[in-house]
Amino acid sequence: MAVNSRKVVIVGCGFVGSASAFALMQSKLFSEMVLIDADQRRAEGEAMDIGHGMAFASPMKIYAGTYDDITDAAVIVITAGANQKPDETRLDLIRKNSAIMKSIVGEIKKREFHGILLIVSNPVDILTYIALKESGYPANRVIGSGTVLDTGRFRYELGEHLGVDSRSVHAYIIGEHGDSELAAWSDARIGGLPIHDFCELRGHYDHDASMDRIFNNVRNSAYEIISRKHATYYGIAMAVCRICSAIVRDERSIMPVSSLMTGEYGIQDVVLSIPSVVDANGIEAVVPIELSEKELDALRNSANVLKKIIQENS
Ligand code: 2OP
Repeated sequence: MAVNSRKVVIVGCGFVGSASAFALMQSKLFSEMVLIDADQRRAEGEAMDIGHGMAFASPMKIYAGTYDDITDAAVIVITAGANQKPDETRLDLIRKNSAIMKSIVGEIKKREFHGILLIVSNPVDILTYIALKESGYPANRVIGSGTVLDTGRFRYELGEHLGVDSRSVHAYIIGEHGDSELAAWSDARIGGLPIHDFCELRGHYDHDASMDRIFNNVRNSAYEIISRKHATYYGIAMAVCRICSAIVRDERSIMPVSSLMTGEYGIQDVVLSIPSVVDANGIEAVVPIELSEKELDALRNSANVLKKIIQENS
């Protein structure tokens, strides 16, 4: 069956799935959205509630469906699984969520599907690796939301610190979407200027202290939010929308989604985030930005953390 580039499926209608569905409805990117959840009535309720907002956005078809509805979809967004409790890390979720991911990919594999699998459930890098292996799809079609959200948080923090639009900040968080992630400071630019030059333009000379504070705020964001409201979902929903836009509109945008490493920086057979060109076929290319020795060590350490988890759970 031909792919309908205006059709998306969301698997998992918890906080992240329903917030993503709500953001996608408002984005007008799709004309058909299918919601799938183990609790069919939950999916129906979300479809009704979000559908009632359509009169204020733009018309589309939104309904609670089944896996039989996936065959012509352009993108399947998987958000199903347990989410972090206070004091849990993303990696603590592996036992609960790998079985869920395997069963979802098993259902998908029973059908024809030629679109992109976008994995959002945590730990996203490990679950993207599992989805890739279980599906047998080419690596460009199985991508994780990775550090797109962390990078958004980083740009927000830097924008606040420097008094500029966060969209004028070009700086990435890379590696694991989790505790071993790192900021690619040596590549960071604001409006084309190297970051320290821009900081000094704004009267900030305490580079090391500011870098530590900003990075810690980014890395601890999810913990801080979860300790206050028990879950994070609006930020990730916007990140899902941004990634879907790059796919559906064939944008060739560069963003740090997670994908299979095949020797970049000497790293392979693990899924993590580095900036990548995203188009209608998923990952078109990875962009091996220049890293300092310290950053390179941190990235390889992040890869080793993830590899160890994969080995312990396979
Ligand atoms: C987040 O970073 C918990 O991964 C989720 O908001």
